[in-house]
Amino acid sequence: MYNKELGIIGTGKIGSALLKRLISTNTIDRNKIVAYDIDENKRAKLSEEYKVEYAESNKELARSSKYILIAVIPQVIDTVLKEIGPIITNEQVIISIAAGVSFKHINKVINPTVGLIRIMTNTPALIGAAATAIAHNENIKDYQLEFVKGIFKAVGMVVELEERHLDAVTGLSGSGPAYIFIIIEALADGGVKMGLPRATALKLAAQTLLGSAKLLLETNIHPAALKDMVATPGGTTITAIHELESAKLRATLIRAVEAATLKSKSLNSAKTNNSQE
Ligand SMILES: NC(=O)c1ccc[n+]([C@@H]2O[C@H](COP(=O)([O-])OP(=O)(O)OC[C@H]3O[C@@H](n4cnc5c(N)ncnc54)[C@H](OP(=O)(O)O)[C@@H]3O)[C@@H](O)[C@H]2O)c1
Repeated sequence: MYNKELGIIGTGKIGSALLKRLISTNTIDRNKIVAYDIDENKRAKLSEEYKVEYAESNKELARSSKYILIAVIPQVIDTVLKEIGPIITNEQVIISIAAGVSFKHINKVINPTVGLIRIMTNTPALIGAAATAIAHNENIKDYQLEFVKGIFKAVGMVVELEERHLDAVTGLSGSGPAYIFIIIEALADGGVKMGLPRATALKLAAQTLLGSAKLLLETNIHPAALKDMVATPGGTTITAIHELESAKLRATLIRAVEAATLKSKSLNSAKTNNSQE
């Protein structure tokens, strides 16, 4: 009945990154993908670049796709849901990557018997290094979950969680790249203050973040033990660590994740309560 495996609604930053990676990693055959974007220029450019079919409308896309991935910003998701809602059947799966848009909210428009998946990913998806969390409602079958996990494995790492944890995921890894860029920039500033050329300082800082993260993920050693490996008694590192602890770096980062999580929760409940549906 559906001649496309995947329909992508919205091919902006995240939607186009997914499209590109799905095709380049052969996760889904390009002939089995259809996309739609309200921006005509984006449609023309991306259909040329990725040789992928673009539908004439969201409705047309919804009529042909088994899995429908909605990659528009939360402010316009209601418009999209209203457009496609009457067409969606129980044979299809809706995947939303919109931050803070709950199953409860989606079900104001989409029949509650339809399979729904929510995704919280992050911008490293642009280069295939995302941290993605996936949550599903009770209608999703195992094979459907595996299919959607496969989509997001094409852009990085995937963890499965219950929907109630997605605000915390937003606060940690969804917003997290911004915290890390500040840390990288600040470390580079430290290098510049001590006389390093700016470009070299930035490269050293970024590679230090990348290498440390890889060391942790690949060895599975606790971060405290990895930190202790660097900090020789009476040395430079423990002297710097004392500065970080005095400035409450840990408490500040914990509070940042907490604040972003609470903000995500409040946006989520405002959206659910304010809907006219
Ligand atoms: N960027 C992030 O760091 C990040 C991280 C995690 C999750 N997310 C989630 O990912 C989603 C997409 O974010 P993004 O950064 O990729 O946004 P984006 O770059 O603005 O992409 C959204 C695309 O959808 C198009 N669009 C708008 N209305 C449409 C409609 N009615 N039908 C079809 N297409 C429509 C937009 O066109 P116009 O530009 O012409 O409006 C744009 O091309 C958001 O819900 C966000 O919460 C983003």
